[in-house]
Amino acid sequence: MVGTTATMKSVTITLYPFLLVILAICSSFCDANSNVLCIESEKNALLKFKNDLVDPSNRLSSWVEGGDCCKWLGVVCHNLTGHINQLHLAAPLSVPHFDAPVAEWEAYHPSKNNSLLGGKINPSLLELKHLSSLDLSNNNFSSIQIPKFFGLLESLTYLNLSQARFQGAIPHNLGNLSKLQYLDLGGNDLKPKSLQWVSGLSSLQYLDLSYADLRKATDWLQVTFEHPSLLELHLSACSLEVDPSPISVNSTKSLVVLDLSENNFSSVPMSIFGLHDLVSIDLSGNSLEGPIPDYFTNISFLEVLDLSGNSLNSSTPNSLFSLSHLQFLNLSSNEIDQDISQILLSLSRCCLDCLESLDMAHNHLFGRLIDQLGHFKNLAHLSLSGNNISGPIPLSIGELSSLKLFDVSENQLNGTFPLCFGQLKSLETLDLGCNQLEGVVSETHFSNLTRLTTLAASQNRLRFEPNSSWIPPFQCRIIKLGQWHLGPKFPRWLKFQKNLSVLDISDAGISDILPTWLLNLSTQFEYVNLSCNQLTGGISFLNVTEIVDLSSNRFTGPLPRVFPTLQFLILSNNSFSGPLFELVCNSLRKGPMRILAIETNRLSGEIPDCWDQWRGLGYLNLENNKLTGKIPPSLGHLDLSVLNLRSNGMFAELPSTLQHSTRLIMLDLSDNHFSGSVPAWIGDKLSKLEILSLRSNNFDGHIPQKICQLQSLRILDLGHNNISGAIPKCFSNFSAMTNKSNQHCYMFQWSSISTNFFYLRALLVMKGREDEYGATLGLVTSMCLSTNRLIGEIPKELGSLVELRSLNLSGNLLVGNIPDEIGNMKLMESLDLSRNQLNGEIPPSFSKLNFLNHFNVSYNNLIGQIPTSTQLQSFENLSYVGNHLCGPPLTKNCTSKGISTDVAKKGSNSEGSKVNWLYVSIVLGFVMGFWGVLAPLFFIRSWRHAYYRKLDHAGRQLYVFCSTMGI
Ligand SMILES: *[C@@H]1O[C@H](CO)[C@@H](O)[C@H](O)[C@H]1NC(C)=O
Ligand SMILES: *[C@@H]1O[C@H](CO)[C@@H](O)[C@H](O)[C@H]1NC(C)=O
Ligand SMILES: *[C@@H]1O[C@H](CO)[C@@H](O)[C@H](O)[C@H]1NC(C)=O
Ligand SMILES: *[C@@H]1O[C@H](CO)[C@@H](O)[C@H](O)[C@H]1NC(C)=O
Repeated sequence: MVGTTATMKSVTITLYPFLLVILAICSSFCDANSNVLCIESEKNALLKFKNDLVDPSNRLSSWVEGGDCCKWLGVVCHNLTGHINQLHLAAPLSVPHFDAPVAEWEAYHPSKNNSLLGGKINPSLLELKHLSSLDLSNNNFSSIQIPKFFGLLESLTYLNLSQARFQGAIPHNLGNLSKLQYLDLGGNDLKPKSLQWVSGLSSLQYLDLSYADLRKATDWLQVTFEHPSLLELHLSACSLEVDPSPISVNSTKSLVVLDLSENNFSSVPMSIFGLHDLVSIDLSGNSLEGPIPDYFTNISFLEVLDLSGNSLNSSTPNSLFSLSHLQFLNLSSNEIDQDISQILLSLSRCCLDCLESLDMAHNHLFGRLIDQLGHFKNLAHLSLSGNNISGPIPLSIGELSSLKLFDVSENQLNGTFPLCFGQLKSLETLDLGCNQLEGVVSETHFSNLTRLTTLAASQNRLRFEPNSSWIPPFQCRIIKLGQWHLGPKFPRWLKFQKNLSVLDISDAGISDILPTWLLNLSTQFEYVNLSCNQLTGGISFLNVTEIVDLSSNRFTGPLPRVFPTLQFLILSNNSFSGPLFELVCNSLRKGPMRILAIETNRLSGEIPDCWDQWRGLGYLNLENNKLTGKIPPSLGHLDLSVLNLRSNGMFAELPSTLQHSTRLIMLDLSDNHFSGSVPAWIGDKLSKLEILSLRSNNFDGHIPQKICQLQSLRILDLGHNNISGAIPKCFSNFSAMTNKSNQHCYMFQWSSISTNFFYLRALLVMKGREDEYGATLGLVTSMCLSTNRLIGEIPKELGSLVELRSLNLSGNLLVGNIPDEIGNMKLMESLDLSRNQLNGEIPPSFSKLNFLNHFNVSYNNLIGQIPTSTQLQSFENLSYVGNHLCGPPLTKNCTSKGISTDVAKKGSNSEGSKVNWLYVSIVLGFVMGFWGVLAPLFFIRSWRHAYYRKLDHAGRQLYVFCSTMGI
């Protein structure tokens, strides 16, 4: 969970020392440059070169005529001869680290970075006869190919054109650079047809062609593996698929570092087993399947092996665990189902002293952590998170004196938080989150952990109540102790954390005033989660850059001001009061905000009309406040996926600007006083809608036919309005209600900081009661048109909505027979046709509705015998009263003609107390529905496994679809 992958990668890079050497040379020369003057012809060449470049930020402002070119930015001259021998024009740009916070990624837009050089590259560089080192990396030469004349810069030993947006072919004459030792063309959009030219680079030691499309260059393997001097090769993300020569090539066995990560290999290319001198292999992020091949034992000096992010499985201990030099092993995110104790035993037989890093996170490992774990004296990183490892944490862990990272989160470890952690003096990252540890943690546990920077152990049943004067010996950047028992007083020791940036003390039994010092710490918070405590007080400013969750507390007062880069603001279930104006209209920059959830507070006044700046907002929930007024037009200019204004006091017609919110998936405006007719543009423009609720408003007019264009609609609730006219026949076009296999879950992922998911929630009225659906929302299909003034017959076309699980047409003026086709809706769990003027018999097809657990046809003019089925007879009289029905479950027997001989009298008495008998039916709904109260937490875990890997850079996308969940 805590960036072990990244640590591994950096190891492979350090094997190559060139960059460092060059920087060192540069700094020593730069001093010397003061003594030499540059050569006039070379200076002119540089000026011509500059002339053809596009330099928007004027980085090359020092490059002017008349000056000493040896002092120009990026130019290095020989300290004696004055010849230019190095040009370092890499853009000063640091690509965010893989694990970098979302904000950093968002700030990083190479194309917008105006310090990038672009334009053309003038051949005048050929004048620099002594140029040995050229670095143009990280710039933006998007319009051009790598210039052919580079092949004539024959003194070059170092050429770095990485991440510079060069396109197309690679000039073959680069192969003439016989002195070239280092060539980095990675991260460009190159499409070479052959790599034959690489054979000409007779001094080459380092080659990086990552991100080039090598599908056509089928000679890649022969050329690189047989190269006589090549030591390090990076071909990451080159669309490589198959081993072009499965027979082993005549490798000269010089390669030491091989990176074939992020390609499409489905099996390990056998040729690599001929490279006996390999020290580092990276095959992460491919599609490797099946058991881990045994041949790795042929590469006996292997120190670094990264096979993470594949689909490898292995059910028996593997010879991999006999590599006697293995230092770094990454098998995370595969499907290995082995006993961890067997693995540790096998490893302890060969690499007891050498193993420094073991990452097997996100597999299906089971079994216990054995005491032998303590014997790996050099182990610095151990990550086993996201497996099924059980039992206690062995006490021998205290012997791992080199341990810096210990991550066993998301397992089933139980027992206590062992005191032996106190011996791990090198420990920097401890993640025990999501286990079943219990007991009391004391100050002593931490007394020696002076280097700790990450303390994560949320979701355990641990208790920690240090002495109020305790000063922690560590300075953590990340503290996650959610679900611990830390209260009732606010943990005062946090005051001494000067570097704190991520804090989760949610659901920690804290019942106190939020101390003002917390948000005034000198630290810059990225993520603060204080949800589900009983914190009180007001908050004036939230000094947090990315995510704030203060939900389910007792905060009062006006809404806090927020940091301009904040992305997730969750203040639900508090008592914040007053208007929205300050938050919405008066902050400087709203672009980054993506989720704004302030439901169930006491906000009042109107929703202000200044949403134009909130371009990034995808989720807006203001449900259950006291907001009034109209929906402001500017709200329609957002790219919202979810808009929930339920249960407020808002009124007037819906603004037509809302039709621009074409990404809406959920629109819930129920329980307000909105009026006018249901706009036809909802069907025309909001084509992604899956959940539409306009329940309990004053909408009138007819249901527009255009609504039927909502192909993805799963939940439609127009109940309790004044809607008239007929039910459109075209409702049968709701394909999400007719076709199977489009169940999904609605989740939002926060960011890399938090592995939490945020479920879309909706209150739905079904089965005669109101329930909140979260994790299971994606399974619900429901249509409610009840309590309107709909006339005409029930269209038989509704019967084609065979995926519908709930249909409520009660309380309308519907006439005619109940169509037989309704009996085809076999998944129906809740069907309410009560309080209409339906006549005829209950269709015999209803006996096929085997999942029904809520059923009501009372107060119609139905006649005849109730069809027999296990379900229909299980409902009480109340489901049938107010008709002329007969037969079980009613006590009324049918006459020979099957017609009831009297009218249920009791019914008319209960007319005034509808609500009561609706509640009675809850009691009757003893058959638990498919989407009843399932324990959602149970399957979150399996989703995590499936999606962990697929989340692009730890989930920067807002809206994640899960396909069929298969409970
Ligand atoms: C020039 O650089 C070389 C090494 O690169 C160094 O040994 C030599 O002392 C330098 N000469 C002067 C005059 O600085
Ligand atoms: C490999 O080397 C052997 C002997 O050195 C030679 O006979 C053979 O042709 C070579 N194979 C390839 C594919 O180059
Ligand atoms: C840990 O869980 C196992 C079952 O998985 C159980 O047998 C054992 O008693 C538990 N230990 C503790 C300390 O709760
Ligand atoms: C902390 O280190 C000291 C000195 O090495 C040792 O005596 C003590 O037992 C350690 N504390 C814990 C809790 O292990």
